[in-house]
Amino acid sequence: MKDFLAISDYSADEIQDLLGEAVKLKKEYFTKGNKPIFKGKVLGMIFQKPSLRTRISFDMAMRHCGGDALYLSPNEIGLGKRETIADVARVLSGYVQALMARVFEHEHVLELAKWSDIPVVNGLSDYNHPCQGMADALTIIEKFGINSKGLNISYVGDGNNVTVSLMHVSALLGWNMTLGTPEGYDMNPKAVEIAQNIAKKTGSKFTFVRDPHQAVKGANVIYTDTWTSMGQEEETAKREQILPPYQVNAKLVSEADKDVIVMHCLPAHRNQELTDDVADGEHSVIFQQAHNRLHAQKAILARLFGVA
Ligand code: CP
Ligand code: NVA
Repeated sequence: MKDFLAISDYSADEIQDLLGEAVKLKKEYFTKGNKPIFKGKVLGMIFQKPSLRTRISFDMAMRHCGGDALYLSPNEIGLGKRETIADVARVLSGYVQALMARVFEHEHVLELAKWSDIPVVNGLSDYNHPCQGMADALTIIEKFGINSKGLNISYVGDGNNVTVSLMHVSALLGWNMTLGTPEGYDMNPKAVEIAQNIAKKTGSKFTFVRDPHQAVKGANVIYTDTWTSMGQEEETAKREQILPPYQVNAKLVSEADKDVIVMHCLPAHRNQELTDDVADGEHSVIFQQAHNRLHAQKAILARLFGVA
């Protein structure tokens, strides 16, 4: 595959392989340091939205492996405004060896990939967040092992881009998922259909409920994300009225499995979707999860560069 745009573009074996590669690169990094497998390669990073984790983890992933990264801000690029996406893609293809793009419309990252001669990685769109999904899966297998079919993942809150990638990686790895979302904040039906089709082969079960308490019953993982994603800011007040019953707090966590892990892709809006005591408590793996972006993305880049 030339690009990394969606987890569901890959087979279960390919995703398992990528995770194995991430585990290997993480271990290598913490023992003797990574080998310079990206030497002579530069990653162009197009950002249409803010970022802490995605920007720094991609930059450091390149540097740890002997490569380099270039940050291209919204104002500089003016993707589709200053010039067409097709022209940006073809120009950058002659300057850098791969592109990472964080965009508003998913179509824009697809368009970049269509016109680029170099690999394109989706660093978040309004549809999905596949690099996050890979880091999430890495974090889950570090806790529960690679052979963890039948694990119960619970997602509570706004059914969003992060949830799409979590659903797809869960379906591919044979994890069950219960999603607790309020009416009007349900998952993208197309993404659900993709997950259900994968699940037919892997045996995953997807359950959709309204009650957050029902959603976390028996959960090995509780996952939540912001109530208002980037680009939805004008809906903030409305969302802050509807989503509070879905807050991940100590009471909700106590209703899950006793060894549950609590996940959040960050940035967290503390004491909204996730309370301070839970974020900083014994079940939380949120910083391990953030750090795993680095290792998961090294594996993705290595595969796209054909060096792993
Ligand atoms: N989780 C995540 O993608 O964080 P940033 O928005 O800071 O990159
Ligand atoms: N759902 C969030 C994720 C941020 C990493 C957003 O799109 O803003």
